Amino acid sequence: MTTVAYFISLLGKDNVLEDPEALAIYGTDWTRRYPPNASLVLRPKTAQEVSKILAYCNEHKLSVVPSGGRTGLAGGAVALDGEIVVSVERMNQILEVNIQEMWICAQAGVPLAALQDAAKKAGLFYPMDLGSKGSCQLGGNLATNAGGLKFIRYGGMRNHVLGIEMVLADGRILDMNASLQKDNCGYDLKQLFIGSEGTLGIITQGKIRLMKKPQPYFVTLIAVDTFSHLLSVLALCRKSTHTLTAFEFFTDAAYQHVKTCFPHLGGVFSDPHPFYGLIEVEVASHTQGEHPLFRLIEEAFSCGILADAVFAENAEQFSRFWSMRENITESLARTGRVHKNDLTLPLGSLEAFMKSVSALPKGGIEVIYFGHLGDGNIHINYIGPANGDVEAFRRDVRVLEKKVFECIAHYRGSISAEHGIGCIKREDLHYSRSELEIEIMRKIKAVLDPTGILNPGKIF
Ligand code: FAD
Ligand code: MLT
Ligand code: ZN
Repeated sequence: MTTVAYFISLLGKDNVLEDPEALAIYGTDWTRRYPPNASLVLRPKTAQEVSKILAYCNEHKLSVVPSGGRTGLAGGAVALDGEIVVSVERMNQILEVNIQEMWICAQAGVPLAALQDAAKKAGLFYPMDLGSKGSCQLGGNLATNAGGLKFIRYGGMRNHVLGIEMVLADGRILDMNASLQKDNCGYDLKQLFIGSEGTLGIITQGKIRLMKKPQPYFVTLIAVDTFSHLLSVLALCRKSTHTLTAFEFFTDAAYQHVKTCFPHLGGVFSDPHPFYGLIEVEVASHTQGEHPLFRLIEEAFSCGILADAVFAENAEQFSRFWSMRENITESLARTGRVHKNDLTLPLGSLEAFMKSVSALPKGGIEVIYFGHLGDGNIHINYIGPANGDVEAFRRDVRVLEKKVFECIAHYRGSISAEHGIGCIKREDLHYSRSELEIEIMRKIKAVLDPTGILNPGKIF
């Protein structure tokens, strides 16, 4: 029996895709940078089917790319060398919402937005939120240890996981999906697989802690003249009695791109300012009238660190302010020539880092800064000249990026705060991981995937 015939007998004809269009779609991700070259796409429905796929691939030494919503920004889900893509999109069942124990159990292909909705329907709260929530999936969020917009308050994927079910490279199913709040029996193996970017196994199920429904959120948008002022406002927020749920920032250059793509998001401030911040707090009891952030903003003005501020006074303004921030990725992607860095630094080094990066020669490259400032997570996006030579842009940006990574290493930051290494940063792992750490990672990979079939060329 041929490989295709075997998979058709296992999954049915509709779930074994060979047509060029499907191979191109499933072979690529949101980086949209690598020419896809997948040999086959498989769409299993159960962990048992995933198990049989991997057992077969392992025996026949066929490389596999695990695939979720393909919103990844590190080239983790791309198939470049004739790999078989295993998409978990049909594994889209929410299996249980347990209110008493406060968790949700779902198959790996459930989109993030569906998990949020299911939690809400049960009167609880799913603590992850990403701009890609409509498309990214539970398995992808776990495999990348996604961070997101409310990390400052709730943490990332790693913090919420109660259990996972995995299929190992040889097809064995590893069930680590108990519902225990406390469990100290040896190594916490599930944490090894979280953030492993499909290189150690395929995640088929996850059990995620839910939280109490939050109190109402309140948002203000601020404008400041220097990056240092943003950090000073953050320090004021830390002292506030309100719970900070987001402290995001973006430059006016980022905002200009958003306005070009989404003109209805313009006109918030009468004059442009170099930096903007989005502050969100959760407020338990609030008497009508004064905006809960009013006092903090007043204090910031009196310290001379604010240039302007606008409160979201209603639901429309609230979602408009968030849209300004969340649409940066899409707006920059539409230029068709963006290269992304996803960095994190100790908060105390941010200002010095930004100064060092500002001083670097940029040539014709436009540099855009935004990100989750409260987490020390800065996204630097490089935009190439319009109609310029793409290859020349890639070369120039690589020279600049290496200098940025040297600064990151100097301040002991990380070259990937949340998007992962994928294939885009595999040459650069050494900037943030020691030789010994990389050696241990390679040994773990060799133990769990001795034939090297799982997502080759990713991370290492
Ligand atoms: P994919 O892109 O399909 O895959 C990502 C990696 O996980 C690949 O290496 C893949 O092989 C592996 N993988 C996928 N599914 C499985 C599985 N079941 N088992 C094993 N491995 C698997 N990320 C953030 O962290 N924070 C953000 O704020 C954020 N915002 C974003 C906003 C936009 C508009 C976009 C486009 C992306 C954003 N991202 C963000 C990046 C991306 O959405 C996340 O990395 C997300 O977790 C990827 O999920 P996915 O299902 O799309 O995974
Ligand atoms: C974000 O913070 O918007 C995401 O991480 C996506 C991106 O970096 O473009
Ligand atoms: Zn981000």
